[in-house]
Amino acid sequence: MNKVTVADINFRGRKVLLRVDFNVPLDERRHIRADHRIQTALPTIRKILADGGMVIACSHLGRPKGKHVPDLSLRPVADRLSELLGQTVTFAEDCIGPEAANLIGRMQNGDCLLLENLRFHQGETENDPEFARKLSELGDIYVNDAFGTAHREHASTSGATKYFGQAVAGFLMEKELRYLAQIMGRPARPFAAILGGAKISGKIGVVSLLMDQVDTLVISGAMAFTFARAMGHSTGDSLVEEDRVELAREILARAGNSKVNLVFPTDIVATKDIAVDASSRVVPFDAIPDGFKGVDIGPDSVRHFGEALKGFRTVIWNGPMGVCEIPQFASGTVEIARLMGRLTDTGATTVVGGGDSAAAVDRAGLHDVMTHVSTGGGATLKFLEGKSLPGVAALTDQVTVGTV
Ligand code: 3PG
Repeated sequence: MNKVTVADINFRGRKVLLRVDFNVPLDERRHIRADHRIQTALPTIRKILADGGMVIACSHLGRPKGKHVPDLSLRPVADRLSELLGQTVTFAEDCIGPEAANLIGRMQNGDCLLLENLRFHQGETENDPEFARKLSELGDIYVNDAFGTAHREHASTSGATKYFGQAVAGFLMEKELRYLAQIMGRPARPFAAILGGAKISGKIGVVSLLMDQVDTLVISGAMAFTFARAMGHSTGDSLVEEDRVELAREILARAGNSKVNLVFPTDIVATKDIAVDASSRVVPFDAIPDGFKGVDIGPDSVRHFGEALKGFRTVIWNGPMGVCEIPQFASGTVEIARLMGRLTDTGATTVVGGGDSAAAVDRAGLHDVMTHVSTGGGATLKFLEGKSLPGVAALTDQVTVGTV
């Protein structure tokens, strides 16, 4: 990566506006369900504090659409961060304005402060120059460690950087980009990707690009039903994107003329109701009965994917196999996490991206087994599509160090 990173800077005495991605899942009591995104920002925070710098961390949480939504307050995150760092993290009730300015004015070297949810202001997602300028006034140097939000061109990821002499990549940002670049640059072969998730529309770019790169592409999750329809199978009441069936047909035709091996599920867990206590049955992928919706992959699909990926040296996985937020339909996704674990054990480089896939890896207790579990979902997909990430493009290039 040709960007200036935190390793290049001594932060002593500097007020650092640090963009992190603390968009963590909260339960109904506003307890943090998974703190991976907080944990992975710690190396950058600790480096700044250890240098004697001051951390002014900012993040979004959810999509409050410019309104103050108390349930999306970052206060619980400040408490968790405080526990993890073993020091007080001051919380500012608004990310701009007099209170934040006062608290920042009183900060000492080695102090850490977290600002309230950036998206309580419309200016954040609109990349409003005035909001960006106000944010930039909070620090004298900018660091971005929010890889998960790097695909968003928002005030805190892009607009604000223009007001700083230096905009620097954090350790997490650097690590995420390094792994993805390694994988896409010279992957050890055979190379496979497993794509899940609900919609083909959100993943079409990455499906197209990966078809030319990988040896095997596993297409699963609800996205597979649009392909099933294109193949002429009965899909019952499963989620099919009618306006993408033709596109799925084109992809199938393209795959037929190329070397890539497209792999689909063989069996599906299907239910009449997507509900916690709903009964379900396992049906063939190519014959889902009327009235039934596919909600997970079945045991034969897990076996089939395992066979198809045996001996693979690089495997990247993004997106759940089913409706994994309902525990009884999460087994297929957890089984794929286990399969990724076994592939890693046999020497494969494995990279997992996307919130649901990463959560399944955690649930299977395999986090430390994978080569890399990314904090990004959308950002990973955009990177894999070969597109520039605005949050990365906005950072200072190495060559300009000393001239800015
Ligand atoms: C994510 O969870 O993917 C990131 O935090 C970005 O969130 P967003 O999709 O709401 O912009």
